[in-house]
Parts: sequence; structure tokens; C-alpha cells
Amino acid sequence: MHIDVVTTFPEFFASPLDCSILGRAQRSGAVTILIHDLRNYATDKHRVVDDYPYGGGAGMVMKPEPLARAVEDLLGEGELECPVILLTPQGQQFDQAKARELARQDRLILLCGHYEGVDERVRQAVVTEELSIGDYILTGGEPAALVVIDSVVRLLPGVLGNPASIDSESFANGLLEYPHYTRPAQWRGLSVPEVLLSGHHAEIRRWRYKEALRRTRERRPELLEQLELTEQARELLSEIEAEDNQD
Ligand SMILES: C[S@@+](CC[C@H](N)C(=O)[O-])C[C@H]1O[C@@H](n2cnc3c(N)ncnc32)[C@H](O)[C@@H]1O
Repeated sequence: MHIDVVTTFPEFFASPLDCSILGRAQRSGAVTILIHDLRNYATDKHRVVDDYPYGGGAGMVMKPEPLARAVEDLLGEGELECPVILLTPQGQQFDQAKARELARQDRLILLCGHYEGVDERVRQAVVTEELSIGDYILTGGEPAALVVIDSVVRLLPGVLGNPASIDSESFANGLLEYPHYTRPAQWRGLSVPEVLLSGHHAEIRRWRYKEALRRTRERRPELLEQLELTEQARELLSEIEAEDNQD
């Protein structure tokens, strides 16, 4: 996969893209990530990329021309062929399903806004989709772009040491993941659940599924409502309900 990021703050990305799984993924060739300085696409000698808002009001607005030139330069001749994504709090909410969808693409272009946001015509002229990472306001699109990059790149083939972990983690099957434990088996008077020490794989699978259901029911009941429950899930949920009623 190839990812282009257009930003007014290229230095923001240096350290996070260089370490851990993202760094390794680039070194292994699973992904190429290029950071482009929007100021290189400005049309004046002062490399200005923002201007005062028409109609007045606080803050500056990112000019349309540098962003459009950046995208058109990156795409080369021809039609828009890959997702050109504007990070904005007004976009579709980014989630694991969207990460999976983007991980199937060969190429992504991510545009980071700043200041009050970008001139509306950029959306109309070159943007194919808009993504938000949540209902809060960041100072710029750079942290949002990093969130998208991180969650997409870890889904690319060969990037994670143990790809099986992708199948069980939260949201993969519509549930939050079960609780994890490691050594020691006793710690500050707290024990690891007996079943996890039993070596009985079928029992462990059942326990994990049940705890994933319990956790999702407690913390994100709306996720459960969106699921088509299997027979086993219904049984386990009845057990959980009965246990809750005993307490
Ligand atoms: C200060 S924000 C602008 C917010 C804008 N005035 C509004 O009210 O919608 C500056 C930039 O940060 C980025 N940004 C802020 N919050 C975001 C979020 N939740 N998700 C994605 N990008 C965000 C966008 O690129 C945005 O253009």
C-alpha cells in the first residue's frame, strides 16, 4: 500500500511513523508512507496556504489552490483513482469496518486541515470522502491521519507478527474483546480465572466468548443490538443474566 499525507506540519509525523509496527511495516515494504509539505504547493513566494475567511469571523481558512494542486500533482494525469480523504470532525465516523475497507485499497491520500478548516470548494473539487476520528476538535488533522494510518497499516498482510490476533480483537466480530491475563497467576490477592490455567482449549474458547459478550453487554450494549446472535451467544447471555440476577 502507498499512503500520501498532505500537511502543513510534516515534522509532526517523524517520530510516530518511525517506531514500532508502523516503522517495521515501512522497512519491510508492506507500506510506503510519504509526507508532503503543503507549503510546497503554494503559489506565492511566501508559501502562504491560509487566508482570512470571507464573511469575517475568527481564524484562518486553508486556501483551495495549494490543496488541489497537491492532490492533482500526487495523482498525476487522469481521473481520481484512489480515496482522497479529508480529515474533519464533520466527516463519517472512522471505525474498524472503515479501517478494513481502506486496508483493501492500493493507495490513500490523506489531507490534514488546520486553523478553522479548509475552503469548502476543496471538498467539492478533489476530496472523495471525509473522515472524523470522533466528536471532539483537534487543532489539526495530523493526529487524525496518524490514527487512520496506524489502524489501517496493522491490517495489511504480513504487518502483525501474529495475524490471528486481528480476528479476536475488539470490533473484529462486533464484540469487545475478552479480558487478558499474564503471569503471575496470583497478584495482590487477585487470581487469574481458573479455566485459563486448565489447558482445556474448548473451555477457554467458551470462557473468552462469554466474557466478550459480558463486557460488550456492560460497556457497549448498542453493539450487541446490532449483532445477529448465534444460538451459543444467546445461551451465554442467558447465563450472564442469571449470574447478574444472583448478585
Ligand atoms: C480546529 S479544527 C477545525 C474545526 C472546524 N472549524 C469545525 O468546527 O468543524 C482544524 C482541523 O483539524 C482537523 N480535525 C479536528 N478535529 C478532527 C476530528 N475529530 N477528526 C478528524 N479531523 C479533525 C481537521 O482537519 C480540521 O480541519
